[in-house]
Parts: sequence; structure tokens; C-alpha cells
Amino acid sequence: MNNTVQLEKAKHDRNRFDCGITALNNYLKIMASQQAKKDNTRTFVLEDEHCPEHIIGYYTLTMTPIDAEGLPEKLQKKHYNVTSGGLIARLAVDQRYNGKGFGEWLLIDALRKLLAASETVAFPVVIVDAKDGAGHFYEKYGFTAFKDASNKLFITIADIRASISLG
Ligand SMILES: CC(C)(COP(=O)(O)OP(=O)(O)OC[C@H]1O[C@@H](n2cnc3c(N)ncnc32)[C@H](O)[C@@H]1OP(=O)(O)O)[C@@H](O)C(=O)NCCC(=O)NCCS
Repeated sequence: MNNTVQLEKAKHDRNRFDCGITALNNYLKIMASQQAKKDNTRTFVLEDEHCPEHIIGYYTLTMTPIDAEGLPEKLQKKHYNVTSGGLIARLAVDQRYNGKGFGEWLLIDALRKLLAASETVAFPVVIVDAKDGAGHFYEKYGFTAFKDASNKLFITIADIRASISLG
């Protein structure tokens, strides 16, 4: 499998991308590149190796405030002085490539990048805002829903570290 690369407006065919959710398609088409330029978010794409301008899937990373009250009490106590976590702001696979393991591969790639980032600017959790029904996708990989918002899930950096190697 190729590595993910940062979205390049001039190279990647953003208009072709269709994951079935308009908001996620539009983010890639309209926002992702501008937001990266402003250093607000980073968007990584997986290219189709047969046609690198075709995007198989993408994810967007940034930081987010932690809603400590939604975390289990043990984690609230452990991280009481922490305000930010890593955020998988978006993750989507083009429908033409669904069901082939690319979603899983992209999620692990995103977690690997966040784990590496956390070794430099420590943060204890990674959060994801799942689109309707997609929460189960993340639960499969060890994420837990916040107490007060079933579409918002988290995983600790400690758990990511225990299951993913940076090598
Ligand atoms: C959710 C999404 C990223 C999955 O991508 P994919 O490449 O089709 O998924 P994979 O082939 O890697 O599937 C990995 C596993 O997750 C499961 N899965 C896939 N989509 C799922 C969903 N919506 N809910 C629960 N589980 C899901 C698969 O069944 C598979 O499990 P298995 O190995 O036990 O069969 C993709 O369908 C998508 O982009 N959907 C629209 C956007 C979206 O919902 N994004 C996610 C949240 S913002």
C-alpha cells in the first residue's frame, strides 16, 4: 500500500471524490486545502496507485478542546490539567473503494501520525466526531463514546501506543 501524502490541489482530483456524504465531499473540494494553508488542519490522502490523481480516501487532523466531563472518571482525574486532544476531524473513503480495508488502513495511518505527534507535543487522547452510524466503525478499533455524545468518541494515546508501533 502507498503512503498517505498531503493533499495537493494541483495534483489530486478532488471533484471526483465521492464518499456518499456531501459535507465530507465538499470539505475535501473546498476547505481542506485552504485550511492547511492557514495551518488550521492537515489533510492526508491515499492515492490510487494506478492513477495517483484519484483519491481513494482521506483524513483530516487537528487539535480540539477536551470535554473532560464526558470522559470516564478515572481519565478525568488522570488528565485534569489537560485541555487539548488530537482530533480526527474527518475520515472518508470513496464509494468506489468501499469494503476493501482502506477505511481501516487510513484510520491506523491517522492514529500512527497522531501518536508520533504526541511524542513531541504531548496530549493524552484522540477524539473523533463520527458521522451518523459510523461510531461503530471506530468502536471496532478501540474507541469509546463520550458519556454525553454517542457520535463523539475517544481513544487514549496509551492505548494507541500499546497497539501500534511507530517503526
Ligand atoms: C466508514 C468508512 C470510512 C469505512 O471505509 P471502508 O474502506 O469501506 O471500510 P473497511 O473496508 O476498511 O472496513 C473495515 C471494517 O469496518 C467495518 N465498517 C465499515 N463501515 C462501517 C460503518 N459505517 N459502521 C460500522 N462498521 C463499518 C467493515 O465492516 C469492516 O469490518 P470487518 O473487517 O469486520 O468486515 C467509509 O464507508 C466512509 O467513508 N463512509 C462515509 C463517511 C463516513 O462515515 N466516515 C466516517 C466517520 S466521519
